[in-house]
Amino acid sequence: MGTFNHLPLNNKETIVGEFDLLVTKTDAKGRLTYASSAFQKIAELNEEELLGQPHNIIRHPDTPRSIFYHLWTYISKGEEVFAFVKNRTKSGGFYWVLAHVTPITHIKTGEIYGYHSSRRRMPPHVRSGIEELYARLREVEAKFSHPKEAAMEAHKVLLQEIGAQNSIDYTKWLFNLIAQQSLAA
Ligand SMILES: Cc1cc2nc3c(=O)[nH]c(=O)nc-3n(C[C@H](O)[C@H](O)[C@H](O)COP(=O)(O)O)c2cc1C
Repeated sequence: MGTFNHLPLNNKETIVGEFDLLVTKTDAKGRLTYASSAFQKIAELNEEELLGQPHNIIRHPDTPRSIFYHLWTYISKGEEVFAFVKNRTKSGGFYWVLAHVTPITHIKTGEIYGYHSSRRRMPPHVRSGIEELYARLREVEAKFSHPKEAAMEAHKVLLQEIGAQNSIDYTKWLFNLIAQQSLAA
């Protein structure tokens, strides 16, 4: 269990259907507590392989560290985060999604006890731009030996590149990108 993510990657893409909704939930530390059957099918992993595992078991190295830094910085403060994510499948392939991640809080105390992610297919027309942006972020990250420093420095570059001061600007950028390109399509 949990060792498949060291298996070699290949370039086989799994297409996420237009109406697929891939859902997972985690505890406060990011360990999986739920995976929808649609998620299990695309990830090629069953509940036994998933539950209790850290969410990074499906991590694909093409998604920059700075994107996950952005994700955790804001969800741990109680905000919702949208992100384009390339994930790996068990057999080493990949799929792209637009993820919406939110904290799950106790109704009375407001304390965060877990997180929820729902993913739809990535709008196809944003893909090449995001692939280029993520490649640039990975280049920045490669200059640092310390992973946290790499993530933080590339996150600054991300915000600079998209002209964002904060997470609200980032979300606006993401939705403008989808809307603009949809209009152009
Ligand atoms: C609800 C939730 C959903 C997540 N979904 C993904 C995901 O689909 N793919 C992924 O690589 N990481 C996802 N993460 C982030 C991982 O916890 C982790 O930060 C990321 O894979 C980077 O791993 P690393 O910090 O060990 O390099 C999710 C986290 C949470 C809380």
